[in-house]
Amino acid sequence: MSTIRVAIDGPSGAGKSTLARAAAAGLGFLYVDTGAIYRTVGLYACESGIDPGAEAALSAALPGLRVELQYDEAGQQRMLLNGRDVSEAIRRPEISRCASVVSALPAVRGYLLETQRELARKNSVVMDGRDIGTVVLPDAEVKVFLTASAEVRARRRCRELEERGTPQPFEEVLRDIEARDWKDTHRAAAPLRQARDAVLLDTSTMSFSESRQALLRIIQERMGA
Ligand code: DC
Repeated sequence: MSTIRVAIDGPSGAGKSTLARAAAAGLGFLYVDTGAIYRTVGLYACESGIDPGAEAALSAALPGLRVELQYDEAGQQRMLLNGRDVSEAIRRPEISRCASVVSALPAVRGYLLETQRELARKNSVVMDGRDIGTVVLPDAEVKVFLTASAEVRARRRCRELEERGTPQPFEEVLRDIEARDWKDTHRAAAPLRQARDAVLLDTSTMSFSESRQALLRIIQERMGA
């Protein structure tokens, strides 16, 4: 039986991972967070003292790396780097910066392509990232470009940071989001853009539950088409 592929792309802070995970749970599909894969390579570069932007040094190291995805009993994706669970370590802010640098390197993107495609060959997936509908799974049955205005994403992020006890000024968070948007959309290798056949879902004026319903409706309509 062939698998069904749902590709969800969009800028950081649009709520992709939470919404994609909820959609995958509702459909009984595997949720694949591809950002976590880039973060794992970013962590490797940081820990091993390789400049994350040094393409030659990093591509020489890649074949010796074991970057694996595992799913725990609760269905949560875990990332393993050479057998070590790095799922928490990859969320550190300095690793976000390393991940952003390594993800701009064509050698890294090319190397990770097959890992992502293989997951979608073996399982029906909801896969989120920046280039899933454009590069990784260009024939995906369902493609969604999930976004929200930079101000709304910054407001949501501020709320999250406050809840975690690490508040940051709104202006700073907004600047950071705008800088990341610029980097993601202007890089030469697989820049963030909406695939021609992707449905645009802008959640700027929607609550989480409205966004989830809208996403599920798009997926159901496309799958039924
Ligand atoms: O979604 P995230 O913040 O966990 O992603 C981490 C970094 O990886 C971010 O800088 C964007 C990049 N990324 C990418 O280039 N392509 C993907 N498919 C997923 C993430």
